[in-house]
Amino acid sequence: MIIDVVSIFPDYLAPLGLSLVGKAREQGTVTINVHDLRQWTTDRHRTVDDTPLGGGAGMVMKPDVWGQALDSVFAHEELIAPHGDKEAAGVVSPDGAVTDGGESPPRRVLIIPTPSGQSFSQRHAHDLATVDHIAVACGRYEGIDARVADHYRDRGIEVAELSIGDYVLNGGEVAAMVMIEAIVRLIPGVVGNPHSLVEESHGEAGLLEYPVFTRPPSWRGLDAPAVLLSGHHGRIARWRRDQSLERTARRRPDMIEALDVTELDAHDQAL
Ligand code: ADE
Repeated sequence: MIIDVVSIFPDYLAPLGLSLVGKAREQGTVTINVHDLRQWTTDRHRTVDDTPLGGGAGMVMKPDVWGQALDSVFAHEELIAPHGDKEAAGVVSPDGAVTDGGESPPRRVLIIPTPSGQSFSQRHAHDLATVDHIAVACGRYEGIDARVADHYRDRGIEVAELSIGDYVLNGGEVAAMVMIEAIVRLIPGVVGNPHSLVEESHGEAGLLEYPVFTRPPSWRGLDAPAVLLSGHHGRIARWRRDQSLERTARRRPDMIEALDVTELDAHDQAL
């Protein structure tokens, strides 16, 4: 996977060199390029914004600068061959036509982090983890001229305007990091033990994760639940499922509403 992030504060994205995402970059599982938007300005002042048409407070990011930046980033499609390079990966039929041998074309997505976007969720993360090329356009001020999203959609690129929550940040950089971390850890081979992805919150079960404990069994007068020391795998699994359901009902009743009742067993229903 290739991820290109464009921002007027490229240094904001330095943490993407650390920890699990940093390791995935070192291993070559993901290539992350961070670009300074101002390199695509053409005036002496390196202007990226202008006043809003129709008036009002704040500044809007200019579509011409963003257009130059994103054209340049999406022009690097050769980076994702052989998927995108039909000649190299392809099949030559008897009439000489080159087809892609049944390979699907590369999937390209432009993510625009914005508080007015759709809510980013684990479902988006799973879907985006299968994309070949992601560009992230980090806006500042009042956002990016709306024609930028329309233009790339018209060009056949999937555009995802996504919010990481119902609050307003100063720009898209932190939201971009949140989404990139959630996506990259779902690429096969990035998280050492894939089982740790199975039971976590917002996973397939649609529930929050159960509480976890480690040694010592007793700490500052607080005992870990005895069942976890019983060695009885069936009882432990049941206890964890009950804890997940109870915790979700208490903290996130909206998630309980959304559960598929047919996936609940008799014991779940009795809770
Ligand atoms: N930019 C500013 N606030 C944001 C949010 N909540 N989500 C995504 N991008 C943002």
